[in-house]
Amino acid sequence: MMAMRRAIVVAAPALTALSLVGQCRAQSAIRATGVLCSVVTLRRIDPTQAVPGSCRAAGTVSEASSSVSIGIVGFGLVARELAQQLEKQRASLRCAGTDVNIVAVARSRYMELSTQGEDVIKAMTADSKKRPTDLNQFGDFMHSSPGQRVIVDCTADDAPAELYASWLSAGISVVTPNKRAGSGSIDRYRQVREAARAGGSRFLYETTVGAGLPILSTLQDLLRTGDVVHKVEGIFSGTLSFLFNDGGRRPFSAVVREASELGFTEPDPREDLNGVDVQRKVAILARECGVHLELSDIPVESLVPKDLESWSPSEAERAEGLAISFVRKLEPYDEVMAQRMAEAESKGEVLRYVGVIDVANGTAMVQLRAVPKSHPFAGTQHADNIVTFATARYTPRPLVVQGPGAGAAVTAAGAFADILRAASV
Ligand SMILES: NC(=O)c1ccc[n+]([C@@H]2O[C@H](COP(=O)([O-])OP(=O)(O)OC[C@H]3O[C@@H](n4cnc5c(N)ncnc54)[C@H](OP(=O)(O)O)[C@@H]3O)[C@@H](O)[C@H]2O)c1
Repeated sequence: MMAMRRAIVVAAPALTALSLVGQCRAQSAIRATGVLCSVVTLRRIDPTQAVPGSCRAAGTVSEASSSVSIGIVGFGLVARELAQQLEKQRASLRCAGTDVNIVAVARSRYMELSTQGEDVIKAMTADSKKRPTDLNQFGDFMHSSPGQRVIVDCTADDAPAELYASWLSAGISVVTPNKRAGSGSIDRYRQVREAARAGGSRFLYETTVGAGLPILSTLQDLLRTGDVVHKVEGIFSGTLSFLFNDGGRRPFSAVVREASELGFTEPDPREDLNGVDVQRKVAILARECGVHLELSDIPVESLVPKDLESWSPSEAERAEGLAISFVRKLEPYDEVMAQRMAEAESKGEVLRYVGVIDVANGTAMVQLRAVPKSHPFAGTQHADNIVTFATARYTPRPLVVQGPGAGAAVTAAGAFADILRAASV
């Protein structure tokens, strides 16, 4: 394999620098990916000189030296927020030398391509004739767009994921909060990763787990720098976090009702309570650790009572609202959950809905588990996500990442950061 050399200047305190030299020399995994890691010189650096001169003066306009063409598939909550964030940062990015342009947008039925430099975001909301969505045509258009090309899949659909490999092998990077490719069939997942390698493009999906929280990038950094990850555990659903952070003060169905009223649940709360969304995130993390599981290899404890799995709402129940009707159906099961919570409380524990990846054993699972009140998971609030990484370096205390793991603003910001990473901005 051909090895790449890149010069990297690291500003670090003396002790850190010496440790870095040791780890760099020991890291054969990086060499295997084709990057040579060698320390050439250790030198004292004045940190103020590491900051490149940029247009700091207000109103300065400079010539951009590079450009990024962005195509967005999906135009819902996350995509609209992303378009706004990109627009707001355009001047700063240009000032720093990069022109960022959204040149194509697709919804499920129609799309806009900026063939003559039109503002596609405006065009999407204008009352004008639209092109029918054709994601192959969308990909061809992106391929012929100037500069670096990035397609951002902001859908929850499988159709864009089916095209990632062809986009990536054509040199177009893909950024996405959509969990379909990361947790779908292993064969397609491998094709996507291989296509990125072959096409010299990037496949970035930080926001598929924990929205804007640095969970996947933290894991990747641990692995790339030669740490040995033993176990990854976490609360990966903001909705399920909220349901158990209430501490059992109210009936479970009442908390589900509140979560639904706050917009935390899917229109049908069974889609949250069945744990499949968490199962997908666990599959993504497991694969990142080299444990190549299919979704069906990951047992899930569903919180939907067996009898309600096949509940099909009547016309009247639909008219009243799916969530409200479901909550009423859930009420008779409150006692079962109350007993579990009381049992945990009697042992000084609380219930948390967790996903676990046991890297050494190559297994993963999703379950409602009792944890001691001193455990980091017991301290979650509101709709927090939390993840612990138990590794060879992070021992005996694990590395912990915690914070809000859902919401359009933080998800869009995470995707935005991935776009800049893909374009090396
Ligand atoms: N919202 C969050 O807080 C959050 C957090 C983390 C991750 N995510 C993930 O981010 C993604 C987007 O979430 P969202 O909340 O923005 O969803 P959303 O509001 O439901 O928007 C989804 C968009 O995808 C479009 N779409 C569906 N199938 C399509 C197809 N085949 N081709 C083109 N467009 C298609 C829809 O088109 P129409 O408008 O025509 O229906 C809609 O505009 C999902 O994968 C979600 O799981 C969301």
